[in-house]
Formats: sequence, C-alpha cells, structure tokens
Amino acid sequence: MKEKFYITTAIPYCSGKPHIGNTYEVILTDAIARYKRQRGYDVFFLTGTDEHGLKIENAAKEKGITPKQYVDEVCDRVKGIWKLVGASYDKFIRTTDAYHEEAVKGIFKRLLDQGDIYKGEYEGWYCVPDESFFTDTQVTDGKCPDCGRPVQRAKEEAYFFRMSKYADRLLKHIEDNPEFIEPEARAKEMINNFIKPGLQDLCVTRSSFTWGVPVPGDEKHVIYVWIDALSNYITAMGYSVDEKGELYSKYWPCDVHVIGKDIVRFHTIYWPILLMALGEPLPKKIYGHGWMNFGVDKMSKSRGNVMYADDLVNYFGVDGVRYYALSEMPYSADGSITYDALIGKYNTDLANNLGNLVSRTVAMNKKYFEGVVPQPGEEQGPDAELKAAVLEAIAGVDKGMEGYHVADAVGCVFDMLRRANKYIDETTPWVLAKTEEGRVRLKTVIYNLLESIRVGACLLIPFIPETAEKILSALSTDNRRLEFGGLESGITLGELAPLFARIDEAKMMERIAADREAAFPTAKAEEKQEEAKAEEEEKEYEALAPQITFDEFLKPDLRVAKVLDCVAVPKSKKLLKLQLDLGFDKRQVLSGIAKFYKPEELIGRKVIMVANLAPRMMNGEESNGMVLATGEKDVRVLFAADDAVIGDRVC
Ligand code: MSP
Repeated sequence: MKEKFYITTAIPYCSGKPHIGNTYEVILTDAIARYKRQRGYDVFFLTGTDEHGLKIENAAKEKGITPKQYVDEVCDRVKGIWKLVGASYDKFIRTTDAYHEEAVKGIFKRLLDQGDIYKGEYEGWYCVPDESFFTDTQVTDGKCPDCGRPVQRAKEEAYFFRMSKYADRLLKHIEDNPEFIEPEARAKEMINNFIKPGLQDLCVTRSSFTWGVPVPGDEKHVIYVWIDALSNYITAMGYSVDEKGELYSKYWPCDVHVIGKDIVRFHTIYWPILLMALGEPLPKKIYGHGWMNFGVDKMSKSRGNVMYADDLVNYFGVDGVRYYALSEMPYSADGSITYDALIGKYNTDLANNLGNLVSRTVAMNKKYFEGVVPQPGEEQGPDAELKAAVLEAIAGVDKGMEGYHVADAVGCVFDMLRRANKYIDETTPWVLAKTEEGRVRLKTVIYNLLESIRVGACLLIPFIPETAEKILSALSTDNRRLEFGGLESGITLGELAPLFARIDEAKMMERIAADREAAFPTAKAEEKQEEAKAEEEEKEYEALAPQITFDEFLKPDLRVAKVLDCVAVPKSKKLLKLQLDLGFDKRQVLSGIAKFYKPEELIGRKVIMVANLAPRMMNGEESNGMVLATGEKDVRVLFAADDAVIGDRVC
C-alpha cells in the first residue's frame, strides 16, 4: 500500500484577488505535492478560502452586496488563479461550506461543554483590520503588534479558551519534536516570544459583527475567525466531533501545513492546543515560508506595487512564473520579485540553459540520425562526468525536496542542464558528424544528451509540469524512471513544441509599463504630483521614530567593515555587490547605491554596516547585512575614518 501524504496551504482571506505572494504559497505546495506523487505517495492536497470576518463584511457593504455574494465572487477568482498556475489540489474548502460551519459549531460546543472554553468579559486593544485583541504589554504606541496599524480600546462579553492549561504540553511537544516547526528559527521565536512568557487565555468569539459562524445557543456571538479557519484542515477531511469520516481516518495527522511566516503563531500555538483539547493527534510539521516582496518592499495595493499571477502568466507563461517562484524564494528568508529579475531568470535559465539544450539536441538528432534515438557505445571523455551530474541531480532533488529547500532542488536540475550544455561544447557533435569514426562516437554523445534531457524533464515535473510534459512528449518516451540509460534506443522522436522564446527586455519592460499605467493611472499621477511637491518644498524631514530605550538602541549591531571588493549586480540598475571584511568574518552585502557610486570608489574604504541583520535574497544573491548611507537624490555612504579598526562596534 502507498504511504499517505497530506499537505495543505493556508486558506487565503476572501477579501480580494490574491496577489503573487499568496499565489506563491499554492505553487510551492503544489510542487511538493507533485514531487511526493511522483515518488509514489498517496497524496492529498487541500486548499481553500477563509471567508468570514469583519473585513469581508465591510468589503461587501461597500460594494452594496451581501457577504455571501461577495465571497462567491472572490472565491471564483481564487479558483481561477489556482487553476492558471496549475495547482493540482484534491479538495478546495470554503469556510462558508455548510458542512464546515456545522463541524465548527460542534467543535466549539464540545470545548465549551468540557470546560476548555468559558464565558467572560474582554477588555483590551482591538485591531480592526486584524480582528484581534491585544494586551497592554503587546501594544506599543497605540499600534497593532502584527500589522502596525492603530488599535482602539474595546470591551465586550466574550468566550475564552484556556490556552494556559495546555502550554506545558505544547512546549514539551515542540522541544521533543525538532521537526515540528520549520525553519528552526521560527520554533525558537515561538518558544521565547510567546510560550515561555506565558500563554494568556484566548478570546474566541466576537460580537462586533455578524459575518461568521454563530456560537451555538448564544447567537449574538460569532466564533473567532481563526478557530473557524484552522478547523478547515480537519473538517475538509470529514471530521466532526461525532464522526471522524473516512478521509480523516486515512490522512490525519497532516504531514505538513505550508504557511507564511506571519501566521506561524496561529499554526504552532493555537492550532495544536485546539487539537489537544479535542484529543486529536497534532500535525507532523508546520513549514513557515518567507514572504515574496516586490524588490525590497512589502507588496501592497496602497503602494501600487502589487503583482498578480494572471498578469505574470500573460507575460512569462505559467512555467515562467512557477520557475521564478520556486527557484528564487529562499527556504527561510524573504525573497524578492521584480520584472527585471523575472526577465533575467527567464532568459538565462529557461530560454538559454533549458530551451537551447533541448532544441539543439533534438535538432541534431533529427539531422544526424533522422530523429531515431541512437544506440550508445563505449564511454569516453566527459561521458562519466555527465552521467555523474545526472545522478547528482536526482539525489539533489530528493535532498532538497525532503528538507523543503525547494529552490535548492530546482537549482540541482539546472546545474545538471548547464553541465549538459558544456558537454556539447566539449564533444563538438558537428565536428564528429564529418567523419565515419566520428559518427560512431556521435551516437553515444547524442544518446547521452537525450538521456540527460529525459531525466531532467522527469525531475522538472513537480516544478514546471507543462514544459516537462512537452519535452517528454517530444522524446516519445513513457519511461519516467530516474536512472541513467532508460531512454529506449531505436524509438523515433516526435515534434518539439516551442518551449521558451527569448524575451526582449526593453520591449517587455515597455509593455509592462504601459499595462501598469492603464491599471494604476492614479498611482502614476499621484507619484508625479509627489515628485513635483518634493521639488517645490524645502527638504521636509521625516517624523522622528518613537523613543527607544538604551537596550533597544543596542539591538542593531553596527560595525566598521572594509570593502574588499565591489561589483555591479548584472541586470540591476540599483544594486552593488560588496564583499566586506569584519575582521572576524567576511560578508557579502547588496546595497542599492549603484546610481551613486562606481565600484572602484568603494573598494578599500571603511564603511559602517549593520552586522546582525537577518540575511535576505536580492536579485538572486544573498545579502548579509546592510551598509549605512543617507540621502535620497544623492545617496552618500557613511564612511568610517581610514584608521578606524575593522570589526569595532559603532555606537
Ligand atoms: N486566512 C488566513 C490564513 C488562515 S489558514 C487557516 C490568512 N490569509 S492571507 O490571505 O492573509 O494569507 C494567506 C497565505 O499567504 C498566508 O500563508 C500568508 O503568509 C501568505 N502570504 C501573504 N502574503 C505573502 C507574500 N507576500 N509572500 C508569501 N506569502 C504571502 O493569513
């Protein structure tokens, strides 16, 4: 019998069209689900939409429609986008589905009856957009600790969940199961910031709005959106307190919940405690991925920098978008998406590396062997190295995917494809074709290339399935075994459908700019107005940040560092890549100062850097710290004196 594998995404709020950040999560989960299916698992992949709450109630009111009409519309758009990016889910749950609402009521009632939930009064700081209450200690300067927006004082009769009762069990579970929360740093954050300081009872109902699942027997309250939403992972499988259902019995506990870093707390604290109270097993793993930002900025409608998957698929095709998302997003840190970077990766990896390799090889096989796969002969020269690269790619994909290092897994395949391109340069098939003896060797060369492509395509099925299928169909083979030598000699290749046509960067950027101008005309006009205003006025100073204590001031670790090397980042107009010497460590840092400095102006100088900033990816490169600079129109780096000691702290 096949081993089961149950995987879920978070269910996005049905408050608007999902952007590429939310969509990245479903692409990532889909790649893992496809990989597991390919490796023989009986996979169940669940996704859906989170459809209750004040934000949705308000959005519907604004549009003059009922909340249900509103979520029906948005849910259709979510499903449309999921389909467009090839999400191969087995079930789509909506939290307004009747079976789900009934099951949530049952869960609430059971917890109330057994005393885990009790009725009390809540007074605290309330964040309207997040629908969350916070305590005095959580709120600084009247701002929500989760989203930074203003909170207001509010009081209401409410039901509470006795979280503290389960805190010790939860802590022990997290400490005893290091694989429970990934990446590891997120587990530490949960323990140190939330569990160890003491879990407070959680307010699990709201009475300030009505769009939610009503509390059974006390209908002026609705059940807190997170209790409702988290339960989706079990109700979708047929769970209710009275009957567990077949799917639930087969697939629960979940093998992995794939979610974003901002909701790790809900999934690693509230969710396990809810399950403990229900007496159900806990999920095996929660993987909290980083965020996809627009360049270095958070994607948001108000900033006018939102990217949507349907637009991107229009420009780059579904596999162009999937490839970027899967190969560019790091395991733990945030990643970035920009149009330049998309075009760059598309041309370098998909059009040049993969596309050219396949089209050249298929064309050579047609020209030299009338499209028939030749019989390979004796191994010579770089053959062994190519085979080793193929086997390494197979192992690398397994290692990467099993550890959720998806970008590393994709990278292994593209490394192998690069090796195969090099093999063409080394073996020069066009020279071999000229002599009788050469043509004998040519058979092996072409076979090895076709076979590397076959294995490569099989390995790419989870990531870029459409392209992988096109390649396999051109190879006319059903052999999907991951081994070297599986391609059948003697078969005739089929036609190769076009893969990735090179993108003309300038033309594409023009097209994108025109589309964005049409989509966000006001954003553009406002931008121009802002610029004009800034020029007119004397320099306006940014408001001072809130006061901090001396201890808080010491948190950023500022150090003197020497610039050992500095180069421009290809395909970026803004970034310079600096190699910095801290004395006790060497760091690579990317800095958006390319317009203001030539690399040679920085080499040898001493700068001040933030040395304890979490690493992040920028344009496909890791940046490990930040160089201090000031100015807007003319940015100046804050240099340290020539005789400053490398590695010294600055304060
Ligand atoms: N409705 C809740 C989830 C409930 S799960 C029981 C929610 N919805 S959301 O729409 O805000 O986010 C859905 C998922 O998308 C979350 O995992 C969130 O972290 C993720 N992302 C939101 N913006 C993102 C990026 N910019 N990049 C990557 N993931 C992003 O939270």
